[in-house]
Amino acid sequence: MIFSVSSLLVPFLFFASVLAQGSFINNPKDGARLRNGQSFTLQVVRPMSHQGSIEVGFAVGLLPCISLPCPPPSEQVGRIMYNGPYRPQLQEIPGSPYQNFTFTIPPRDEFPRGTAQLSTVRLHFIGAGPFPILEFNNITLRIV
Ligand SMILES: *[C@@H]1O[C@H](CO)[C@@H](O)[C@H](O)[C@H]1NC(C)=O
Ligand SMILES: *[C@@H]1O[C@H](CO)[C@@H](O)[C@H](O)[C@H]1NC(C)=O
Repeated sequence: MIFSVSSLLVPFLFFASVLAQGSFINNPKDGARLRNGQSFTLQVVRPMSHQGSIEVGFAVGLLPCISLPCPPPSEQVGRIMYNGPYRPQLQEIPGSPYQNFTFTIPPRDEFPRGTAQLSTVRLHFIGAGPFPILEFNNITLRIV
């Protein structure tokens, strides 16, 4: 059997291109402190390299971390803050279209103080197939 370098590179490049499709949370910053009842902007960036990507589904969850570490969003999303389209637009950040979402941390009687996990769940299609990718992002918030 003959292995060529290029056959080894194909899975790597495939993986790299999948990673390059990633969106990320640019705001709030990981570890941000927010009060119950405080509103904040979630900014989800999808870099320009993703032009071929077709958005299919998008949701945002907020989960109180009852025990640490918090379960990943692939296991528990928590309170669904948003479930709808993700349509990033090119704004003031060159090459980085984004969409802003405005949320309010629920009141104290509905949401405990302490560590919480803000997560995004994004299903999109890429490539000619196309093939589906389920993508998760999460950051930690301190509810104070
Ligand atoms: C999106 O949110 C960020 C952070 O709050 C803000 O700086 C930016 O101006 C907002 N962009 C738009 C188009 O409203
Ligand atoms: C969020 O995701 C990262 C990996 O990107 C992980 O290390 C972290 O523990 C996760 N959980 C929270 C609550 O941020």
